[in-house]
Amino acid sequence: MKDQAHTLRKIFEGSSGPASPQVLSVTSGKGGVGKTSIVVNMAIILAAKGKKVLVLDADLGLANIDVMLGLTPRYNIQHVLDGLCPLEEILLEGPEGIRIIPASSGIQELSELTREQQLCLMNSLDYFDEEIDYMLIDTGAGISRNVMYFNTAAQRILVVCTPEPTSITDAYALIKVLRKQYGIKRFDLVVNNASSKVEGDQVARQLTLVCERFLGDVALEVLGSIPTDRNITECIKGQKAFVGVHPRGEAAVRLEKIVSRLEQTSRDASSGNLQFFLRRMLLNQVKGSNHAGYSISRSY
Ligand SMILES: Nc1ncnc2c1ncn2[C@@H]1O[C@H](COP(=O)(O)OP(=O)(O)OP(=O)(O)O)[C@@H](O)[C@H]1O
Ligand SMILES: [Mg+2]
Repeated sequence: MKDQAHTLRKIFEGSSGPASPQVLSVTSGKGGVGKTSIVVNMAIILAAKGKKVLVLDADLGLANIDVMLGLTPRYNIQHVLDGLCPLEEILLEGPEGIRIIPASSGIQELSELTREQQLCLMNSLDYFDEEIDYMLIDTGAGISRNVMYFNTAAQRILVVCTPEPTSITDAYALIKVLRKQYGIKRFDLVVNNASSKVEGDQVARQLTLVCERFLGDVALEVLGSIPTDRNITECIKGQKAFVGVHPRGEAAVRLEKIVSRLEQTSRDASSGNLQFFLRRMLLNQVKGSNHAGYSISRSY
């Protein structure tokens, strides 16, 4: 068992062990655009390729990764934070061996942890050191402090939007806040619920142009689009992952391409161990408190 001082030393000195997971947050301005569905299915595709994948349910208000997969967690991250059980005990195993850190509705915001809880979480995540290739974080929608907390800690931020104008506008507003308030310039983009590939491309182009025009140095990596597919809705109702039930369906094939693109464009892995992620989380917690009152602005 490592002591807290050991963990703190690693965090503040900047350790760089052999592990270098890609830490990706999946986020959106508007809610209900398909983030959780994308995280779950993306995790399964990566795991099927032999990657070790950890999914963090960070939508603390409305956690539902476990519900989407028909899993029933006995404990969740709040139990870890309260020191009631170690992280190993709350972990769920999903299809292809993906591991999930479950949350539950209405639990304490991770952006407001006490010092003791921070250490508890850090010690817990140490458990994964050296054995994770991808950590996928399913955030809530919008620009709450908790959402920003995870987005700014992740190495990559994948913004999901749909062709609805409100979703595009809110995606832009989210990117704008992350650029202006936190200095983030690179984002990944997936357009979900597109009626055709052409529509998906159009939405991506539209958002890219607006970002270029009004935010200048923001770069969007367009990973692809996913079509509207009734099978996805049916799978969610049946609490199954669509890539498992319809592996040759259009949605699964397109998501596989998105995952391949994600892998091809992996970045900065050398600085991406879990301690690095945690260090950023801690620093952001201090910074984030300055931005609690920032409200979303749709104006350019
Ligand atoms: N490509 C798609 N085709 C058809 N329906 C879809 C598609 N993607 C998502 N959906 C539908 O949208 C609903 C919302 O999906 P999901 O819960 O993944 O969104 P979310 O962004 O995580 O929502 P929240 O912001 O509430 O966390 C699902 O119940 C599903 O029915
Ligand atoms: Mg969700």
